Amino acid sequence: MPRDEIVNLALRRSLFYPAAEIYANSPSGFWEFGPDGERIRRKIIGFWRRELVQKERFLEIHGSQILPEPVFRASGHLDSFNDPVVQCRKCHSLHRADELIASQAKKVVPESLSTPELDNLIKEHKVKCPKCSSTDFDKVKKFNMMMKVDIGATGNQPAYLRPETCQSIFLDFPRVYKTMRRNLPLGIVQAGASFRNEIAPRNTLLRERELGQMEVEVFFNPKKIDEAEKWGEVKDYRLNLWLLKTKKVEGISCGEAVKKKIVSGKLIAYYLARVQQLYEKFGVPVKIMRFRELEKDERAFYAKETWDFEVETDLGWVELIACNYRTDYDMKGHGKESKTDVMIKEEDSPEAFIPHVFEISAGVDRTFYVLLDLSFRKEKRGPEERIYLDLNPRIAPYFVAVFPLVKKDGLQEKAEQLFQLIESFGFDAFFDEKGSIGKRYARVDEIGVPFALTVDYDTLKDSMVTIRERNTLTQKRVKIDSLPELLWKLSLGKTSFEKV
Ligand code: GLY
Repeated sequence: MPRDEIVNLALRRSLFYPAAEIYANSPSGFWEFGPDGERIRRKIIGFWRRELVQKERFLEIHGSQILPEPVFRASGHLDSFNDPVVQCRKCHSLHRADELIASQAKKVVPESLSTPELDNLIKEHKVKCPKCSSTDFDKVKKFNMMMKVDIGATGNQPAYLRPETCQSIFLDFPRVYKTMRRNLPLGIVQAGASFRNEIAPRNTLLRERELGQMEVEVFFNPKKIDEAEKWGEVKDYRLNLWLLKTKKVEGISCGEAVKKKIVSGKLIAYYLARVQQLYEKFGVPVKIMRFRELEKDERAFYAKETWDFEVETDLGWVELIACNYRTDYDMKGHGKESKTDVMIKEEDSPEAFIPHVFEISAGVDRTFYVLLDLSFRKEKRGPEERIYLDLNPRIAPYFVAVFPLVKKDGLQEKAEQLFQLIESFGFDAFFDEKGSIGKRYARVDEIGVPFALTVDYDTLKDSMVTIRERNTLTQKRVKIDSLPELLWKLSLGKTSFEKV
């Protein structure tokens, strides 16, 4: 769906909107989520927790958002977490050099190119300043994207807002491994905010300066990269892989991907399968998903192998997840910098080693944007136009809305009782009595609420209500007494609305 339609809806319904919007010149790239948006966002994280973290028996931690400078010296972010920036000499506007060249030369420009190489490309392609059209640029410089903070009254202890949530996972691994009495492979996860001083934030939630991440770091013995306990469950499952060799998407089974050495081992193929299945469950059609294999110079500085999980939207392919084989890069770095022994032993072997890491780093806000994009529906109904979100009911902000047809004659009280009944059974319910019933339906359709219940005059006589389905607008009469079981079955997919 066009970006403008999504942004209009987001602003109209306060799903998300710019931070500090009442102040002029507030920096871009920071977003707030309003009441319904926050519910959707929380449900996305909840879905990830239930469908991936819990099912894979990963362990979740909550780390600090601010970490001291040595952490980022060890992680390589102080030296290498840079974007190439170029300034126009005429209007002084700043641009990300690689993206500026890529957009005008219509070619892929790896961000890892050296600054002289980028200078040459700017000249070669006669790149123009998008603001003033000048071709006169300063030399490209590297700009570190971390946000610095000073700790304490003296401010002499430099620290940074974390640029990725996973660093605390690496720092905590030896303790968690020891105290939680678990074996490798062991997944430790965290959902939370990260901060990147992007030169050019854009496309709302797709390129932010404060971004939500759901990160999984799977620690494993590198000698066992070709082992996966539940291999039988994914061996024949087909991954949509976009390979550098063929430059197209191919459905390749996990078994084949391992046999042909397309991925480094069963452990990696196994988790790629779980990622694709997770997004299938979110409601993303497999035919618009792909894992894109990254060239060496496109990969982050810590990655030996990277598969970007991307979904095709109106804005083209959008990266939702970076799946990185980080080897022992991070653990080795932290061991050396902190002078701590990060070697471990497995129960069945006397040999000490530094575990390797496979990372599944998902964007919360990017997932949010893409699910909006894919679920946005606009349809003509006679002279009227209707907008609704065809969201997976488990991601919808509420499962059911409850309305009195009108506010008078005891209907409101009856509807309130019904609302409390539904809530007492654990359903996320939404109550609204204001305005015409048509407008109330339209409002809940726009935020993707799958079902609405209406209490009318007949309800007072027969204890039945109308249940209306969001997508088809079909309405049926059901007994109030049957609702808890019916909603439970609908929420778990144990029945369908047609069968009601
Ligand atoms: N931890 C990987 C990333 O933030 O992209």
